[in-house]
Amino acid sequence: MTNKIVTLAGDGIGPEIMAAGLEVLKAVAEKIGFDYEIDAQPFGGAGIDATGHPLPGETLEAAKAADAILLAAIGSPKYDTCPIRPEQGLLSLRKELGLYANIRPVKIFDAIKHLSPLKTDRLEDIDFVVVRELTGGIYFGEHILETDRARDHNDYTSEEIRRIMVEAFELAKTRRKKVTSIDKQNVLATSKLWRKVAEEVAKDYPDVILENQLVDSAAMLMITNPAQFDVIVTENLFGDILSDEASVLPGTLGVMPSASHSATAPSLYEPIHGSAPDIAGKGIANPMSMILSVAMMLRESFDEKTGAEMIERAIEKTLAQGILTKDMGGATTTDEMTAVIIGNLE
Ligand code: NAD
Ligand code: IPM
Ligand code: MN
Repeated sequence: MTNKIVTLAGDGIGPEIMAAGLEVLKAVAEKIGFDYEIDAQPFGGAGIDATGHPLPGETLEAAKAADAILLAAIGSPKYDTCPIRPEQGLLSLRKELGLYANIRPVKIFDAIKHLSPLKTDRLEDIDFVVVRELTGGIYFGEHILETDRARDHNDYTSEEIRRIMVEAFELAKTRRKKVTSIDKQNVLATSKLWRKVAEEVAKDYPDVILENQLVDSAAMLMITNPAQFDVIVTENLFGDILSDEASVLPGTLGVMPSASHSATAPSLYEPIHGSAPDIAGKGIANPMSMILSVAMMLRESFDEKTGAEMIERAIEKTLAQGILTKDMGGATTTDEMTAVIIGNLE
């Protein structure tokens, strides 16, 4: 059966890293006999340019009918003053597909340990996953901007919290059996409900330890003692901020992939970073976040563990060979790095 993959290259470095991801997918597919077809659709700023809308109707329909979706990145300063921004397309896509569970793994690669601002001993045993709630909270509440007053509404139902908690506990069951739920329950009502539901769900998982942390000190602990974390679960906004903070541990956003899952729709795979307008068009973006997102897609949507591991090993080997893009202190271009990764697939 031919697997249908919808690709959304988007803006900035998006098309550059998508091309890299697809080259690697093609090479792996040939090796493992994975049959697929690509349907490239306009999205984000590219969607606005093509149709006036960041999530064109045809793009949404194609995404709904796909077996999996690959997204590179959206956003550009070009649209800063426009009434409709590329980011709205991303939020609508997540909402339309019900992609509530965003999985952001944090892993340290031996070969680039020196890039981390942390002392090497602090990097030992870091292996955690941020489970970010992705379709609720302040992102999707009313945003009211008046001349001298503005408000953003944060709203969570217990059901929205419960399903992301279940996701986190199920994941922890397959790992080191610890969930750290991060909130701000000393101030926010939504966080009080968040913690209550976390404790309720924990009762169904007697083998998994639940720890609750406040987001401010959790942000500090992520730097001072990151090895304590196994599965972090948190609301949409905190998850956005904490996962970019987590990229400091491996030393660059350029190695951070993610997967987003819903109850019924196809899953979506994307780097956690944005369109990096400061380096777009220069051919120097790090393609590893995109390529590792392809690996997550192979494993999680298509059960192609062999292909996923082949990619992950090739990434490690490439780094060990000192093949580094500019964000990692090297001078290798996106295309050169992609070619080396493909050569290292075995
Ligand atoms: P960003 O993540 O695009 O970039 C932050 C910094 O990291 C920049 O210096 C950039 O050059 C660097 N960087 C990011 N990815 C890199 C890569 N693969 N290789 C090398 N360097 C990399 O964040 P920003 O600059 O704050 O945002 C730019 C635009 O992207 C905004 O419009 C924002 O809304 C959007 N954005 C989109 C997504 C997404 O598509 N999922 C995610 C985050 C931000
Ligand atoms: C991310 C991005 C998005 C978010 C933006 C572009 C809307 O930062 O995917 O992390 O805040 O979720
Ligand atoms: Mn973000």
